[in-house]
Parts: sequence; structure tokens; C-alpha cells
Amino acid sequence: MNKKEEMKKIRDEIVSLKESPLYIYRIENTYFPVIGEGTHDAHIVFVGEAPGETEAKQARPFCGRSGKFLDEMLASINLDRGKVYITNLVKDRPQDNRDPSDEEIALYAPFLDRQLEIIKPSIVVMLGRHSMNYLFKRAGIEEKLQPISKMHGQLFEGDFGYGKVKLLPLYHPAVALYNGSMKKTLLEDFTTLAQFI
Ligand code: URA
Repeated sequence: MNKKEEMKKIRDEIVSLKESPLYIYRIENTYFPVIGEGTHDAHIVFVGEAPGETEAKQARPFCGRSGKFLDEMLASINLDRGKVYITNLVKDRPQDNRDPSDEEIALYAPFLDRQLEIIKPSIVVMLGRHSMNYLFKRAGIEEKLQPISKMHGQLFEGDFGYGKVKLLPLYHPAVALYNGSMKKTLLEDFTTLAQFI
């Protein structure tokens, strides 16, 4: 199977993931799962938390208010959205934007693992503490975990099984929507990525 076919298989499995606690909510609200968007040859993959309402309606990651700010950050370092891949840890929208549960993370994370295995990025940017906590464990560097307030903007090195990968934890873009100083911090942290374009 080529990359496109493997990614489609993941999509098909998630679409029919009836065992998910979020499946009924998806159907009742005419939401869609959000698989990811971008090139399957990306060097840089962004991993958010879970789709919000706008994303679940459009089946696209980061296309709502947080996404507008992500676009602003990408533009600030001249990084084209089409050159990266953007996805989430959890692929369906949790009710009322609540945090994903441990059970939901355990159910959806293997799909993210497979996406990373297909794309094999050299840098994974984690947007928020949920994807950071999961991916640091997955990369075998759990002992490096601290609160995101201590880790944001720093580069780490780990391994997802296909070779060495750089991990960059950032605050979730949503925090910038109601906190101007966080917006500045995120924009500053984002410049760390510029050297890898
Ligand atoms: N927040 C996320 O974590 N992911 C999205 O796709 C949108 C908002």
C-alpha cells in the first residue's frame, strides 16, 4: 500500500469507530471525524488535541479560531500550510470542548502512531499538553516531562520507531485567543521552527 492508501485505511477505520464514546455524539450532531490535512511527505507534523466544533463540521483540523492563529504563526515564519501535516491526538470532537478522557486518548492514539509511521516526520510539534504528554511517552522520553509552562519552545529528541525525531512542545493556540502575553510567547516559540524549513 502507498502512503495515500494507508492514510485512507486509517480514515475508513475511524469513520466506522462505533466503539468510541464520541461516535454517537458525532452522528447526532452531523459532525465528522478529523483525520488530518497536509502532505504525507511533510518534514514537520503538528499535533493538536481534538477537533472543536468548526473542525468537526468541516472535517478539517484547525480551521476555526485557533486555526486562524495557527495560520498567523505559520505565516510569521513563511511556512506554507501545504508543506506540513496537521492532525490531532483525538480525531472526534469531545462534548462541549471538554478535555479528552484517558479512555479516548488510548482509543485514538494508535491512529496517530500509524500516521507518524506513514509520514515519518523529522520534527513533531505538539500543540498543548495532551499531545505533549502522549508523544513524549511514545518517543521514550517520558522522564523529560514537566508542566508545559516549563517545556514550551524547547527542542527534545526522541524516537517513534522509524528513527530520531525532534519534538517541540508549544502551548495550544487557543490560549492565545484570550491572553495577549501567551500570544507573544507562542509567536516567539514558533521562531524555533524557522531553522528547519
Ligand atoms: N483545537 C485542536 O486541538 N485541534 C483542532 O483541530 C482545533 C482546535
